[in-house]
Amino acid sequence: MRVILYGCGDFSYVIEYLQVALKALQLPAYASFDPQDSSSHVPVDVMATELRTLDQLKRQYGLRVQENIAALQARGVTVELGVNAVGHPSYGPFDLVIFRNPHTGNYGSSQDPSMTSYLEAIGSNNGLFQGVLAQTHHTRVPYGLVLITVVGWPYLGKNPKSQLGFQGLQLENVNYAREYGNAAGLEFLRHINFGPQWVARNTGGTFQADEIGLLYRDATHWLDLRELEHTMRAYDEDRVPAWCKLHPDYEAMRRKIGK
Ligand SMILES: C[S@@+](CC[C@H](N)C(=O)[O-])C[C@H]1O[C@@H](n2cnc3c(N)ncnc32)[C@H](O)[C@@H]1O
Repeated sequence: MRVILYGCGDFSYVIEYLQVALKALQLPAYASFDPQDSSSHVPVDVMATELRTLDQLKRQYGLRVQENIAALQARGVTVELGVNAVGHPSYGPFDLVIFRNPHTGNYGSSQDPSMTSYLEAIGSNNGLFQGVLAQTHHTRVPYGLVLITVVGWPYLGKNPKSQLGFQGLQLENVNYAREYGNAAGLEFLRHINFGPQWVARNTGGTFQADEIGLLYRDATHWLDLRELEHTMRAYDEDRVPAWCKLHPDYEAMRRKIGK
């Protein structure tokens, strides 16, 4: 199973978060994770990425970034810096694409009475969210999963400062979440409430908020189920490629061919 994470910030949370995400998605690999055992390799093929360069990250977070990256690499995680989630060289394809709390770093300014800066902030974050969804077209396998978690304004449209928050992405509204997915060829599956979490800002600080996962699946429609059947017959059950297990007809096919 192959996983890519975008925008990993200071890279401090990657292993624990992966375990939580795989568990929430009921993907069996989570059971083999022991986040506390720093000597064990992670049981899935993981690429952890971030937009900023090492120098930029060190300026923002200090030397701990390098330590966090080294610890991930020691556990078998591939780390790539300078990776723009809305357009990058072709890696993958991946069974699971994750972006935890995408944010451009544009927060708007409370000093700006015209609210123009808030609108710009909403626009830039809107662009990032939609851009990431669209870009997964190149990085996801058929039926691959895309998990984006969001917290608070501008995503949930609940900015108490002004009504402008309601012009945010309003992703708590299932129809909005669905429409964003449809535009990118993704089927919206469900929300996952990860509960209160310590959430990082681009600038390094943290705050506590409910983190909501938006789970999408590649909406490719296979016209011919024979490909699924053929592939499943060709492999032992524990070696069946991940795309088969993500296929909506996997269980039915398993019963049909008696595996
Ligand atoms: C709010 S921080 C979240 C950091 C981390 N994911 C976490 O949850 O702790 C947003 C992150 O997205 C990154 N980012 C912003 N725009 C990006 C882009 N176009 N491609 C990849 N990462 C981006 C930022 O550099 C920053 O690390």
